Amino acid sequence: MDFKLTEEQQMLQKMCRDFALNELKPIAGALDREARYPVEQVKKLSELGLMGVAVPEGEGGSGLDTLSYVIAMEEISAGCASTGVIMSVNNSLYCDPVLKFGNAEQKKLWLQPYASGDKLGCFALTEPGNGSDAGAARTTATRDGDSYRIEGQKAWITNAHEADAAIVFATTDRALKHKGISAFLVPMDAQGVSVGKHEDKLGIRASSTAVITLDDCRLPAANLLGEPGLGFKIAMATLDGGRIGIAAQALGIARAAFEAARDYAKERQAFGAPIATLQAIQFMLADMATQIDAARLLTYRAAALKDRGVRYTKESAMAKLHASETAMAVATKAIQIFGGNGYVREYPVERHFRDAKITEIYEGTSEIQRVVIAANVLKEIS
Ligand code: CAA
Repeated sequence: MDFKLTEEQQMLQKMCRDFALNELKPIAGALDREARYPVEQVKKLSELGLMGVAVPEGEGGSGLDTLSYVIAMEEISAGCASTGVIMSVNNSLYCDPVLKFGNAEQKKLWLQPYASGDKLGCFALTEPGNGSDAGAARTTATRDGDSYRIEGQKAWITNAHEADAAIVFATTDRALKHKGISAFLVPMDAQGVSVGKHEDKLGIRASSTAVITLDDCRLPAANLLGEPGLGFKIAMATLDGGRIGIAAQALGIARAAFEAARDYAKERQAFGAPIATLQAIQFMLADMATQIDAARLLTYRAAALKDRGVRYTKESAMAKLHASETAMAVATKAIQIFGGNGYVREYPVERHFRDAKITEIYEGTSEIQRVVIAANVLKEIS
């Protein structure tokens, strides 16, 4: 097994690291305090080709592989976790399913401008009354001649305020449960679509999150993504990929917290020497570094499997589970190393701690990842 990144991947990593260090890290604290969407920085992501990393060049993207996407996501998220999730939702939750399930006409209209970053997408699966039980969608889609009428509400939608289009999951027949769900490409300026207030969140405060309401929203039948009734499978397959993106985001948050704690430990004096000379601190740093490396290896493996075209449901759930729990554990230890200074906004680790928490919740909670992993390991035979 070769753990060496290709020259192209190393160049991408350096480009993203430089951008994160110079243009994200210095303003991430202010963006968080002001809950301000990073307009200019997202524009720059588009210029750097980071809004459709693994989308083929012919479809408006950068034509790189999933591992490259993971590398870029880690770096961007280490600079600013909010910017990381904006990028992740557009890449994994919006562009990926349109690439995989869209027809040629749909790709022209609904993929190319999004993969290039000229437009922004979002993913509307969760509803106010159901999150983990994604198959219980109450939003309805009623066929009416050559169109569909969509009615319902979608909740916790990242990028809702800035997005130009959403992939909306709605049921055409609730009796069919998950088999009645279909996926639709919905322009955010369509009649009947409205976006609610900005959720006042604990972390990733510079990204926007809101409810989307669809009230008598009429869509041409051509906006159906994939086959009728295929929506649940589209959502699940999309989340397999999305979870790799969130694992990489968690990795970036964990690394940022670790690096801040390591550097602080070398500076901060106690008992006549830097606290990094104390074994209590060294053991914490050793555990943090080991957990981060393990999370990175799991995430890289899931990405490599996706690129190989084999099923990677279990591996992406494992990567997300371990990386998000690592981000929480590492950020907690980072605050401990900073002591009182870790508990105030002057230093970045309290933000990393707040940003880390969501990675254990969105795109499937840690409990859902365990459900997915358990279901898969129980199917395996020796
Ligand atoms: N790929 C393709 N198909 C899949 C699949 C996958 N990964 N997982 C399941 N399926 C298929 C199954 O094969 C099955 O097909 P058949 O009906 O043909 O047999 C069908 O889907 C139903 O499967 P299950 O019986 O396993 O479904 P379930 O109802 O028990 O649900 C679940 C399984 C894992 C709990 C699922 O509901 C789930 O992942 N829930 C969490 C949802 C989630 O992650 N939400 C996050 C929303 S996005 C977000 O966070 C917002 C944001 O903006 C960041």
